[in-house]
Amino acid sequence: MLKKRILTGHRPTGPRHIGHLVGTLEAWAKLQDSYECFFLVADLHVLTTDYAHPERIQDNICNMLADWLAAGIDPSRATIILQSAIPEHAQLSLLLSMLVTVARLERVPTYKEQVKELNLQPSLGLLTYPVLQAADILVYKANTVPVGEDQLPHIELARETARRFNQTYGQFFPELEPLLSKSARLPGVDNRTMHTSYGNAIYLRDTPEETARKVMSMYTDPTRIHSNDSGHVEGNPVFVYHDVFNPNPEEVEEFKVRYQTGKIGDVEIKKRLAEVLNTYLAPLRKRRAKFIAQPKMLMGILHTGTDQARLIARQTIEEVQTRMGLQNNSSAEYDSVDPIAGTFC
Ligand code: TRP
Repeated sequence: MLKKRILTGHRPTGPRHIGHLVGTLEAWAKLQDSYECFFLVADLHVLTTDYAHPERIQDNICNMLADWLAAGIDPSRATIILQSAIPEHAQLSLLLSMLVTVARLERVPTYKEQVKELNLQPSLGLLTYPVLQAADILVYKANTVPVGEDQLPHIELARETARRFNQTYGQFFPELEPLLSKSARLPGVDNRTMHTSYGNAIYLRDTPEETARKVMSMYTDPTRIHSNDSGHVEGNPVFVYHDVFNPNPEEVEEFKVRYQTGKIGDVEIKKRLAEVLNTYLAPLRKRRAKFIAQPKMLMGILHTGTDQARLIARQTIEEVQTRMGLQNNSSAEYDSVDPIAGTFC
């Protein structure tokens, strides 16, 4: 049976943290069994906000790739793509932009949020971010897009744009389905959303010592002053983490009961958490260290995937151009003319 095609990706904003691991990367690794997978390094999208820091991008790509591979993304089963190396992404984005109104883009919640947060005059590139994302997906005629909830408005825009195209030019793009990741969101060590820019993330590349230090500084129950006070377990990140990483549910249950009845201190629970987390991450870190030591191999993987993907992207663009009334770029169909020989006037 023909496998359905997935396209998803990340912006290379730096090394991945354990929130990425349990929220997305582990799910992506599993999807490789049942789907034809394309994983996109969305470096053009980085420029929509970070264009003034070109010096960071290549290093961030390397680190993100090492994390992806360490987490089980397997280049022998999936295609890894560098967005900026395939001009067809930008080309399709331009063509699709004819079908999307400015008003529609101004209503995209992520755009509104960014404009408020960054407190600057938004660029055209930021406004059209979701059109480029739609092009990323549609240029491979992907059916399924595994994403976190925050990306749903972008997928909706991609669906609408594909439908608009199909209505105008005849059925061409398949119906798109978002695939929502099911795992719980991992809070940062300060209990806010885990985010690189908040300084509250535990990275896959952190050493066991750094990890233990971050765990020991973790936010717990602010209402609990002494270790013999009864504590709250729900929404307490130490227990959220134990639920995810501790392979022994009986031990976690016992910790919870003792915590609620004031019979165990934060320090003991955190020490155990640092241990279980480091045990969980150990094999992944070993693989990561191997990959990051071979940047040329990482780039080789990226470029092999990119070359394969480009062939598909090329075909899509040719068909889209023809349907939109443009000539497709293959010159094979025309007589060759030697301008110097004076065939023209
Ligand atoms: N916008 C996505 C993010 O920030 C990254 C991305 C770019 C993407 N193109 C995509 C995700 C296509 C899914 C499909 O995480």
